[in-house]
This record gives sequence, C-alpha cells and structure tokens, in this order.
Amino acid sequence: MKIKKISYSRIKKVNFDKIKFGNFYSDHMFCSEFKNGKWKNSVIKPFGNIMISPISLVFHYGQAVFEGMKAYKDRKNKVFLFRPEDNFRRFNKSAIRLEMPPLPKDIFMNGLKKLIDIDRDWIPNNYGQSLYIRPFLIATNGILSAKPSKDYMFMIISTPVDTYYKNPLKIKIEEKYSRSASGGVGFTKAAGNYASSFYPTRLANEEGFDQILWTDSSTHTKIEESGTMNVVFWLKNKLVTPKPNENILNGITCKSILSIAEREKIKVEKRDLSVLEIIEGLKKGYLKEAFGCGTAAVVSFFKMIHYKGTNFELPNLQKHDRLSLKLKKKLLDIQHNLSEDPFGWRVLLK
Ligand code: PLP
Ligand code: COI
Repeated sequence: MKIKKISYSRIKKVNFDKIKFGNFYSDHMFCSEFKNGKWKNSVIKPFGNIMISPISLVFHYGQAVFEGMKAYKDRKNKVFLFRPEDNFRRFNKSAIRLEMPPLPKDIFMNGLKKLIDIDRDWIPNNYGQSLYIRPFLIATNGILSAKPSKDYMFMIISTPVDTYYKNPLKIKIEEKYSRSASGGVGFTKAAGNYASSFYPTRLANEEGFDQILWTDSSTHTKIEESGTMNVVFWLKNKLVTPKPNENILNGITCKSILSIAEREKIKVEKRDLSVLEIIEGLKKGYLKEAFGCGTAAVVSFFKMIHYKGTNFELPNLQKHDRLSLKLKKKLLDIQHNLSEDPFGWRVLLK
C-alpha cells in the first residue's frame, strides 16, 4: 500500500465541542481499484476529489454499496474499532447482491486500520463521540449498456461525529411507500435504498414526523425498520424486534444492544411484529418504550408513533426508567473501553 500524507492538516479548523454529522472529513482517504479482474493501486492519500468517467455505471444504474462503522477513543487515547469484521462481512454481502466484486479481507482491514491509525487525531475523545467511518464501493466504468461494470473503486473516508438525533423521535408508520420488497435488496446497504427513501421521508417530515417506520411492501401490516435504524419495542416485560430478513438491514448496533440485554437477563424476541400489536400496546399502555438502533443513531428513542391519522404518545418515562438509555450506556461503555468487553467486540488499533 502506498501512503502519501498531507502537508498541512485541516484539523485545527474543527471545533470538536460542536461537531455535526459529516461537517468535516479527516485528512486522508483510502482507495483501491478493481481492474482486469484484480485489486490494485491501494493507496492512502489526502482527502480530496476523485476523477472518474461520466460513463461510470454508478451514475447510471446505481451500482454502489457502502458501510458505516465507528472508531472510539478511551481515556488514555487508545483507539478501538467496534465489530469491524461484521461490517466487512455485510459489505461483501451487499457487493455480491449488486453484482460487484467482493473485497479481499486484507485490503478492507489493512486499509481501514492504516487509515484510522494515520488519522487517529480526528477521533474525538468525548464520551459518545467517535469517528464515523464510511467504506464504499462504486462502479467506475461501463459502456452505458445495463450490464455490470468491469471496473470498481473501493474507498474509505471518515468524519468525526456526535449524536445523530438530538431529540426523541416522532415516527410515522408508512402505509403507501416501501423501502424494500421480497427478493429485493433491502438487506444490503445499497446506495439506492437510501435514494428511494428520501422522497417519502420528506413527505413525512413535512407532516411533522422525523422518520418513517417502514412496513412490509405487500400488506403494510408488519414492522420492518425506521430510517437508518433497526427498531426495538419494550412490550410488557420483553424486548421485541422484527427478525432480520431479506427486507431488513441486519444491524450491528441492534444485535449488540440485544446481546447486552440478554446478558442482563432481559427477555428478547426476534420475530414478526405486526403494526396492530404495536398499536394495541400503545392503546393499552403496555408498550413502554420504542427505540431505533444504528451506527450513526446509536440508540434513539421514540416519543410518538403516528398511524392512520392518530398520534400515539409513548409513555413519558424519566431518564433513569428508560431501558433504551441503560442499554445505550452499556454499549457506549464497551465501545469507549470503560467496561469489560465480554463479547470480544472491541478491536484495539495498535
Ligand atoms: N437499517 C438501515 C437502513 C441502516 O442504514 C442502518 C445503518 O447502518 C441500520 C439499519 C443499522 O445498522 P447498523 O447498526 O449496523 O449501523
Ligand atoms: C449508519 O448508521 O451507519 C448509516 O448508514 C446511517 C447513514 C446513512 C447516515
């Protein structure tokens, strides 16, 4: 791997006390190219624009997939990645489904670790803050016919981040639009999944909701996920989440939160979850909490759920009564090396 370092760092321009998601990008980026059936030209270079052909299939047919992961610091400035192998595996699942070449593990992992090591000063050390890492793969050639590209570019960029959602969320159960369909690409992080959600999300925003709670495309009666989060409901004495299937992104944060909950002897169910069950729980008061989990969102709880013209307020629990916040703290403690890591999730960057 070639390394070309910046001559001047932009880091002094960053006010780490006031970082917004995606406002600043770290000094370097990793690139590797797939040409003639081989990965080559791996390089870490200064963050900047790239030049690719206008015929690149990423522009025309949307051959693009990505991942989202984070690096954390502890109090002694040691740096940890969180479950990077899970992101690597999911990245290749997405690539394969979009007919793109999977990444060799050494290119993904060595590129990732070296980049984060070089840009380690960009990882904030405040609790809850982190460096959000975005690996992505795009098709960089083609002949405008609707066939997969022969050439691809893999890149990793990163940005210091704080909480994604500042306030409790107002969520609309969607009954018209869909995020994914049976046999489709809902389980991948295909760029197009996000593009197609923007329009219905804007409509929901204009009605006063923060995010959509997606339901199954054929009946709109089963809960899937929300925005960029998997969803968890505290129903009676159990945590219930829709079982990951081909329509749902199998989220690493949700998996982790539920493993932590099970370790705390909380009952967890991964199963089909109907909209009616949620509405019943809201009406009868046994839905205690609902929250979303994701790398960017971490754990964000819902204050209201909208369904068929009615706004259902969730119980206004005190902070110390919120299971979502207790589990979030346990997760952040593991991520920031403030507690034991019984699951072996942290990867120390040497
Ligand atoms: N669902 C969608 C659509 C997402 O974009 C994300 C974010 O990555 C998630 C769920 C949560 O997944 P993870 O916890 O792995 O970030
Ligand atoms: C993530 O949480 O990693 C995401 O992918 C969210 C991002 C689209 C902002």
